[in-house]
Amino acid sequence: KQQKLKPLIDINESAAKLYHHVLVNTELGEEALNYLKKRKISDEMIETFNLGYAPNERILKKYFEEKKVNYQDLRKTGLFTETNDGSLKDRFAGRLMVPIRNESGKTVGFSGRLLHKDDDMPKYLNTPETELFNKRKIIYNFDLAKPEIRQKHDVILFEGFMDVISAYQAGVKNGVASMGTSLTEEQIYDLKRVTKQIYVCYDGDTPGQKATNRAVDLLQKDSNLKIGIIQMPDGIDPDEYRRNNGETSFQQVVENGRESIVKFKINYLRSQFNLTNEEDKLDYIDKVLHIIATVDNPVERDVYLTELADNLDVSLGSLETQTEKYVNVTR
Ligand code: GTP
Ligand code: MN
Ligand code: MN
Ligand code: MN
Ligand code: MN
Repeated sequence: KQQKLKPLIDINESAAKLYHHVLVNTELGEEALNYLKKRKISDEMIETFNLGYAPNERILKKYFEEKKVNYQDLRKTGLFTETNDGSLKDRFAGRLMVPIRNESGKTVGFSGRLLHKDDDMPKYLNTPETELFNKRKIIYNFDLAKPEIRQKHDVILFEGFMDVISAYQAGVKNGVASMGTSLTEEQIYDLKRVTKQIYVCYDGDTPGQKATNRAVDLLQKDSNLKIGIIQMPDGIDPDEYRRNNGETSFQQVVENGRESIVKFKINYLRSQFNLTNEEDKLDYIDKVLHIIATVDNPVERDVYLTELADNLDVSLGSLETQTEKYVNVTR
């Protein structure tokens, strides 16, 4: 199988090289290069992540046809779309190109980002599923992050690959991302081979928090994993945070913004209830107490309960009494 995939990898690698050349060395890449400057992505990151630009719908087609690369192999890479008469057209045009590498560091696909917002086209376009490119399995940046994960004994899971690149630039190099899809069992399985400590650092906006909740539930199914949350302030994403506040401040959030999943759940659940409604409030408290009851450490339970009592204006004593009941049920 490896042998059969080799030509497809070679094509992807050549395409990445060509896109990168266009971005860095040609006039065609100027706008994309300015776009990256505006996002404060450094030249070093452009090199490390081999970022590129796809200028038009002919560049790959022309390049590979001149080299007489096999038509079936070209088709199988997913880098082209097929017109009715069976001829190929570059799939990516006018997009900033992010090569997606496998665990061995080989390019197996791409994600292309529009430089301008366009309501008629998706912001990101990915290589479709191919023999090489399986979105459920791929962990973006796992190859580069692996030694860092081993050294730090933890991995940080971001929502987007721009967050991974941004974090890397700020010296936080143990970051990975899933490919736009939500986290999968396959990805957890692969991460687990390297570390048991996983931090989820998704976007601070509503979809990001929802995705965090889903990821936590999935991760919690595996009792061998240790899970934490890194909370981004102000509803923004990690890349925006670094851009707005600088790299040192970003590092600090990554270190100090760590919270337990219990704390996350308490806050997340609060957004699901209307606490001005009496019945909702009681429901919310009950749900939260069940979660707090799963915490082994009584001091830690006390910290959560005290904060809850303060926030919801109920007595600590009654919360404690009720939690003790749930503790006995849970154990
Ligand atoms: P930037 O806007 O470039 O900073 O990207 P982002 O990573 O902040 O994007 P966002 O938070 O909107 O989405 C998170 C992830 O979802 C992205 O990294 C992509 O992997 C994926 N995603 C977002 N928009 C699209 C889309 O239009 N199509 C596809 N296939 N995936 C998308
Ligand atoms: Mn270069
Ligand atoms: Mn988002
Ligand atoms: Mn985002
Ligand atoms: Mn972003």
